[in-house]
Amino acid sequence: MSDLTALTQDALAEVAACGDLAALDEARVRWLGKRGVLTEQLKALGALPAAERPAVGARINEAKQELQSAIESRHAALERAAVDRELTAGGIDVTLPGRGERPGTLHPVTQARLRIETLFRRAGFEVAAGPEIEDDFHNFEALNIPPNHPARAMHDTFYFPDGRLLRTHTSPVQIRALQARGAPLAIIAPGRVYRCDSDMTHSPMFHQLEGLVVDENISFANMKAVLHGFLQAFFERELAMRLRPSFFPFTEPSAEVDMSCVFCEGRGCRVCKQTGWLEISGCGMVHPNVLRASGVDAERYTGYAFGAGIDRLAMLRYGVNDLRLFFENDLRFLGQFPSLPA
Ligand code: FA5
Ligand code: MG
Repeated sequence: MSDLTALTQDALAEVAACGDLAALDEARVRWLGKRGVLTEQLKALGALPAAERPAVGARINEAKQELQSAIESRHAALERAAVDRELTAGGIDVTLPGRGERPGTLHPVTQARLRIETLFRRAGFEVAAGPEIEDDFHNFEALNIPPNHPARAMHDTFYFPDGRLLRTHTSPVQIRALQARGAPLAIIAPGRVYRCDSDMTHSPMFHQLEGLVVDENISFANMKAVLHGFLQAFFERELAMRLRPSFFPFTEPSAEVDMSCVFCEGRGCRVCKQTGWLEISGCGMVHPNVLRASGVDAERYTGYAFGAGIDRLAMLRYGVNDLRLFFENDLRFLGQFPSLPA
């Protein structure tokens, strides 16, 4: 017993003498650690006669608790002293302004998409969506793409083992919207699409904007007016637009939409490869086979559809010259597009 009292006095004196946190931790381990002096005392209890064990055990535990709280208050005191030293030594200038936190912004492609949605909603379109994992019927078959069409080759399409696929365009939403709502209808369907393709102007995942209007007496001229109006609203300037004959299995006739280059106003520059024109979208009158595959009366209704690249539109609006910048998520790049109301 007298041993224990002496040991405790030694331990307390040692803790009180510790000059820094490292020394204090060493003292804690020496006295209270797994092989610590007081811990060994507890282990030695077994050697005592059974009658004496409870009383001695209680004394040792008391000593441990006393030492433990002495260590804790010494720890707090040393920490306070360290902060005081730091402050008086001038290492911290507490008058400096804080670093602040920059609020996040919407991704430029998202900003472009929201802007597009606002413009088309204003013109009476609804916004529709479809699954990114599609089946053969919606992505190809119902869009009048025969089994041997090059668009089906493995080269372009990511297939799943069960035959489903990552949609290669947003056109399957045409089928889903017509099946679900029937005619008449006016929708846009912005979304992610996937192709086995990657370089400066192609990325394996990109965004398309599908548009579809089906009603009685819908004409090619209606389509041209809507597309031209949309481009001028989106770019907030007067633009020339032209339609070039093209081919898509799901439209007839089909065209590519070109707009005058936003960088050179049509004079010719590097971006438009000196042509003065930028290709922005495919379009055409909905093929009667597509209407029929979706259960729409192709005698009564006609329609137009278009499919534009949203990333392309965003690049042109924001003056970005490499598509891949959109997908690298470098904050120095993304921080240049503060979110503005669409
Ligand atoms: C289509 O995907 C048709 N579904 C478009 C369509 C819809 C035509 C409705 C008629 C009626 P295309 O493969 O050309 O067509 O792609 C359309 C647009 O997507 C292109 O003009 C281009 O802007 C963009 N695009 C195509 N491939 C990529 C890619 N790998 N990376 C980024 N943008 C791309
Ligand atoms: Mg094309």
